[in-house]
Amino acid sequence: MIQKINQISLEVDADMKVVSTSEQLENFRVKYLGSKGLVKELFNELKSAPNEDKKEFGLHVNALRIKLEVFYNEKKESERPLKNTSEAQDLSRSGENIAHGSHHPLSIVRDEIIEVFNRIGFVVSEGPEIEDDWHNFSALNFPKDHPARDMQDTFFIDKGAQEMALRTHTSSVQVRVMENNKPPIRTISPGRVYRNEAISARAHCFFHQVEGLYIDKDVSFADLKQTLLYFAKAIFGENAQIRLRPSYFPFTEPSAEVDVSCSICDSKGCNVCKYSGWLEILGCGMVDPAVLESSGIDSSVYSGFAFGMGIERIAQLKYKVNDLRMYSENDLRFLKQF
Ligand code: PHE
Repeated sequence: MIQKINQISLEVDADMKVVSTSEQLENFRVKYLGSKGLVKELFNELKSAPNEDKKEFGLHVNALRIKLEVFYNEKKESERPLKNTSEAQDLSRSGENIAHGSHHPLSIVRDEIIEVFNRIGFVVSEGPEIEDDWHNFSALNFPKDHPARDMQDTFFIDKGAQEMALRTHTSSVQVRVMENNKPPIRTISPGRVYRNEAISARAHCFFHQVEGLYIDKDVSFADLKQTLLYFAKAIFGENAQIRLRPSYFPFTEPSAEVDVSCSICDSKGCNVCKYSGWLEILGCGMVDPAVLESSGIDSSVYSGFAFGMGIERIAQLKYKVNDLRMYSENDLRFLKQF
């Protein structure tokens, strides 16, 4: 039987050299691998071989069969036109890197501020960016033609009969909250605001604020100060200190501007804090009773405090970004760092 196998093997080698057309390949398959082919014949013969030879013969026949199948499959594969690109894909190739997006630095800082105030019970409220005069100014104690309106260079929008404006602060949202809710009120309003200023490294025609409002019975200036100290420590670290300087806002009385100790130089003095050791971060004060009354809150029962800060300013101090324009230029080299 070995002889027969060797003989067929030689025949196979000779045939393999000449197979080129698909017709020849098919004849090749029928001759050797078909149901009446030579391999089948050999396997049949194997059954009647003497037991002691079976193993050796079996190995040879099997090797021949594998050789034939490999040859046939390879030929067949190379004949087949590639039907579509998915069949041409190399599935073992490693994947390409996916460019992940990242959060905008202002979103990161905004979310952090929200988180800090959420912990002490402040809920987020939002309102429209196009505001009427009442919510942006009048309800906040800015009478018409009052010079304080000049503090906030306003973009006015002519909307037919009613003159509207792009909100200059998110205090407008707090008026809406006061109108629609009964104290106790504890809310923060993050959002974009607009002011008609020439764009430079230090000013922009839009920026972002978080303003806070707390109204209840017996809310005091001490509560305000303690809340802001808690905030400063949460954002700038345990060692942060604050100081309050008297200031003026139409809607708060008394009013103050708040400085935080310079975390960049540890209050030793640097060019960011202009060698004072302090950085201005927000405005605040006790809500003027006239503001409570305009929104329907009884000022003989309730008092409250309010504060407002620019998110850009906090982000500038956290990330040492000295040009405000970077936040809105969508330069990937800048954005990818966060
Ligand atoms: N609304 C003020 C501003 O935009 C900030 C502020 C809010 C000041 C609340 C005092 C109290 O400048």
